[in-house]
Formats: sequence, C-alpha cells, structure tokens
Amino acid sequence: MIEEVKKHLKEVNSFSSKDAEEIEKFRISYAGKKGILNELFAAFRAVPNEEKKAYGQELNTLKTAVSNKVKFLQSEFKDTGGNSLIKDPSRTPFPLETGNRHPLSVVKNRIIDIFTQIGFTISEGPEIEDDWHNFTALNLPEHHPARDMQDTFFIQTDPDILLRTHTSSVQVRYMEKNQPPIRTISPGRVFRNEAISARSHCIFHQIEGLYIAKEVSFADLKQTLQYFTNALFGNSKIRMRPSYFPFTEPSAEVDIYWGLETETDYRITKGTGWLEIMGCGMVDPNVLENCGIDPEQYSGYAFGMCIERIAMLLYQISDIRLFFENDVRFLKQFKATL
Ligand code: DAH
Repeated sequence: MIEEVKKHLKEVNSFSSKDAEEIEKFRISYAGKKGILNELFAAFRAVPNEEKKAYGQELNTLKTAVSNKVKFLQSEFKDTGGNSLIKDPSRTPFPLETGNRHPLSVVKNRIIDIFTQIGFTISEGPEIEDDWHNFTALNLPEHHPARDMQDTFFIQTDPDILLRTHTSSVQVRYMEKNQPPIRTISPGRVFRNEAISARSHCIFHQIEGLYIAKEVSFADLKQTLQYFTNALFGNSKIRMRPSYFPFTEPSAEVDIYWGLETETDYRITKGTGWLEIMGCGMVDPNVLENCGIDPEQYSGYAFGMCIERIAMLLYQISDIRLFFENDVRFLKQFKATL
C-alpha cells in the first residue's frame, strides 16, 4: 500500500506543464472528488494497524505535494501568460518600450518645418564662440553696457573665447560667408551665467531667424511672424512692443494673445492676457557692414526665440528644469507628438 503512495509522490514531483488545461486535469485527477487522494484516504481503513502511522504520514506528504505543485504551476502560468518563450532568457522582453523624441526636439523640429516651408535654410555655428561673433560684430563693442544683458561664461585662459550667449552669433557667421538674398534660421544651444530656477536655466536653446534682401520692411517681419504663430499655435493674435537690442533698429518684442479665461491665464500673463514669445527687429546697418554686406543696398530683419519658452507655452509646463532632468515619466508624455 505505502509503495503505491510513494509512486504517486514521485509522479507528482516530476509533473510539469505550461498548459492551463493540463494543469487543471492534473489537479482534478489528484485532488478532485473522485481523485487519487480521496481513493487513497478511503483505503486507509484497509491498512494494517502497524502500518497506519507511516501510511498516514506518507499520504499527507502526497497531499501537500499535490497542492504545492498546482499552486506553483498556476502562478507560473499567470506570470508568463502561458507563453513559455518568456522563460527563454535570450528573448527580448515584451512589450518593448519604445523611446520618443525629447520635447525640445519635437518643438524645435516643428519650428524648423514651419520656416523651411517658406524658404528658410538651416544654419549652425559653434557653441564655443569668440567675442567678435557673439558681441562685437553684433554692435556690442567692448564695454558696451548692453553686454550685461547676457551674463557670459568666459573660458578663463582667454577672455576672447566664451560660450555663446545667443544664436545671433550664427547670423554673423552666415553673413560673413553669404551675400543676400539670405533667408536662414539657426537652432542651437546657448549658455548664460544665471542661477537655475523654475523660470531660468544656465543652458537653454534658441532659434535665430535672419532675412536679408532688397527693400525688406518691418511689415515683412510682422507678416512672417504672424504666419509662424498661426502655424504653431493655431490662429493667433500677436502684437509688437518697442524694445531694445543692439543688433536691431528698430527693435521689438513679440507678444501672443493668450487669453484671460482661467486663473492660470491670469497668473502666467500677469493679468494682461499677453505673453512674450521672442525678440526681433530690423538688422542694424552697422551689423550688415561688420559682416561685409552693403547696408545701402540691402536691409533685413532678424528674430530670436527660446525653444524652452515656446515648449512651456505649448505644453503648459511650469518648470524649465523638467527639460533637463531626464525623468522618463516626464519625457514619456510627449510620445504622441512624435
Ligand atoms: N539674441 C537675443 C537674445 O538672446 C534674441 C534676439 C532678439 C535675436 C532680437 C534677434 C533679434 O535676432 O532681432 O535675447
């Protein structure tokens, strides 16, 4: 008798299946009403008295083994969804988490698309710049007070070499090499010696725009910017406020009408309903001359915007630091806008 229980124990211990139906069959054949366990328990009475103790113990071991085996196989089935391939360690985990572009790249690419559609080319320049391209050629000679508008990181060993504070340096490089008509945008990373907070960062990104040809007017500038904001934000109202930049004359800041519907609108627009989105103006004749372009023949406009600022408005992001922390939970949200 006891030999039979031992034989079953061996069978139970060696049983394995990844098929839910098979596991259930196994369970019923042992633990079901008319299963082997009940049969063996019923046979208990026929066991000679001196064997009863050993038989009982063996039977209990078998009962526990059956229940453990069923529990184990069922939980394994649940973990793998019945897919035995998952047990193969060389297999790529599924489902694959696909990556997506960084929100700043998404916005940068959208801006690039909008301007390339109307004939702007893309130009780039170095992040480590010299004084001439970042300041002097842009009508900011040494000791010009407006240099303080942009706190600069200098490369210590050489006061002439610095991390560019704006992508306006690229327009200088471009004009030095190309004659009008010029129509180009320059996306890139810029650096300023500023404390990091929710609203400002020492590293950020800009897109500079430049158009130089014959008889370019301020009306052309406004028209182009209106086209741009309509394309990016949907039909929008913009206004130009007089401002000052050394490299443009006249200069303006561009505001977009955001509205005053919610409490947040009041907070972010400081109760005005308007939000500043970029600086712009007509390129100062001195800048044209510095770059080898005849200001008697040509005129043009320029504009510059911060990509982080545009992205914050588009996606309603309230802290610029989120762009640089690389927290996947934040970055994942921009999948849809690939
Ligand atoms: N370079 C300016 C800045 O970093 C932005 C800017 C303003 C660029 C006016 C321009 C411009 O080309 O015309 O704040």
